[in-house]
Amino acid sequence: MISADIEKQLNEQLRMEAESSQYYLAMASWAEGKGYSGTAEFLYMHSEEERAHMMKILRYINERGGTSIVPELSKPATEFDSLQAIFDDLLKHEELITNSINELVFRCLELRDYTTHNFLQWYVAEQIEEEALARTILDKLNLIGNDKGGLYLFDRDVESIKVQSAANKPV
Ligand code: FEO
Repeated sequence: MISADIEKQLNEQLRMEAESSQYYLAMASWAEGKGYSGTAEFLYMHSEEERAHMMKILRYINERGGTSIVPELSKPATEFDSLQAIFDDLLKHEELITNSINELVFRCLELRDYTTHNFLQWYVAEQIEEEALARTILDKLNLIGNDKGGLYLFDRDVESIKVQSAANKPV
């Protein structure tokens, strides 16, 4: 059985993962509307992954005798300035998620909840990879700048950009 404290924090993390999914879905839809079909596919997939992250926490809370809360979500932006702006936001958002996971891990140790601590190690590893991937993409976009040919090639190839350890890892 999980403590009320950990249950509350896990539900908050669940909410953040759901917000991430919603946020990346909005980015994907914007990219599709602008003709960046490769970027849109990448972000649709990313949105699905965040939903899977949310589900994993939801199932864990229930499995441990807690009560998961399906959260109300805020409406994300519909307009973005550029692909750079999108991936800049995405990286900042992932850094926020990482901080939140770290706080949760710390709290688990304080409360000696080693089971949840163990469960969260998957998220710790995932965050390293997600941040690295976002940085790799952002570096490429910053090199390209406003070059239309470069952006065309980026959009064509973005789905194949991988950070070695992140390749094809199941959620
Ligand atoms: Fe599930 Fe991208 O954090």
